[in-house]
Amino acid sequence: MGLPAGPLLLVGGGKMGEALLAGWRAAGMAGSDVFVVEPDAARRAALVARHDVRAEATAGAFAGTRPRTIVIAVKPQVLEAAMAPYRALGGRDTLVLSIAAGKTLATLEALFGADRPIVRAMPNTPAAVGRGISVLCANAVTPPARRGEAEALLAAVGETAWIEDEALLHAVTALSGGGPAYVFLLIECLAAAGTRLGLPEDLALRLARTTVIGSGELARLSPEPPATLRQNVTSPGGTTQAALAVLLAADGLQPLVDRALAAAAQRSRELA
Ligand SMILES: NC(=O)c1ccc[n+]([C@@H]2O[C@H](COP(=O)([O-])OP(=O)(O)OC[C@H]3O[C@@H](n4cnc5c(N)ncnc54)[C@H](OP(=O)(O)O)[C@@H]3O)[C@@H](O)[C@H]2O)c1
Repeated sequence: MGLPAGPLLLVGGGKMGEALLAGWRAAGMAGSDVFVVEPDAARRAALVARHDVRAEATAGAFAGTRPRTIVIAVKPQVLEAAMAPYRALGGRDTLVLSIAAGKTLATLEALFGADRPIVRAMPNTPAAVGRGISVLCANAVTPPARRGEAEALLAAVGETAWIEDEALLHAVTALSGGGPAYVFLLIECLAAAGTRLGLPEDLALRLARTTVIGSGELARLSPEPPATLRQNVTSPGGTTQAALAVLLAADGLQPLVDRALAAAAQRSRELA
């Protein structure tokens, strides 16, 4: 399934909006097919310089454009107030793709009309280096071809998966949406623990960072599941086993991660 034909209107050229834009351009979408609405003048100039697209401060500048796709990448807090002009810009066949956390298909249908193809997606920040993962969920009237277009837009920045039960997006948000932050924290914790064992701070950070990067790459390239890769570095009676006895204890890492993800999923439900 390929990228949708233009024109595509990107609403919000912030961190995630720009990551998507970079992915689309790298995947062959013409700059002349992309219009960006971004209120911040410096960001607009940067987007134009880096991606060779047209960027304007308000939707009004694109009146008369009939976008085939509208991608919403504004913060959830401003979404409802910002959407009024876009309903008029699009038509019944305009695909609306929103990456705004917590904004449900019902909310988007209330804004754009339940008769329009609407897809919600939850990407994550490794999208900025083309290594994200996005989970998508479509409303009832989105035909397979338009689902494919939404998927292609997110596949430009990493892997994709679909869910039919929208409520699962709370769990997705908790796991892969926030996941990069937990992994960065793991690097910080490893480095801090290494420093407390006497390593110089910069060496501890380098060891921690490179170990997480290398292990991630090994998990990606190896056909073995993570549990086997873990067992492969755990000699009976050895040093790693001593550490894992602590991490795998009843009050070890799993219950902590369970609590962390439950808190994130609960917060996601509250925000929605
Ligand atoms: N970052 C993540 O990890 C992540 C993961 C999954 C989903 N998301 C979702 O992605 C969306 C964007 O997040 P982000 O991290 O990219 O935020 P961001 O960097 O703050 O980007 C949002 C951009 O939208 C602009 N904007 C504000 N009001 C607008 C309007 N009325 N019309 C057009 N643009 C407007 C902002 O400009 P100003 O700065 O001038 O206000 C900003 O440049 C959010 O809804 C978030 O939930 C993010």
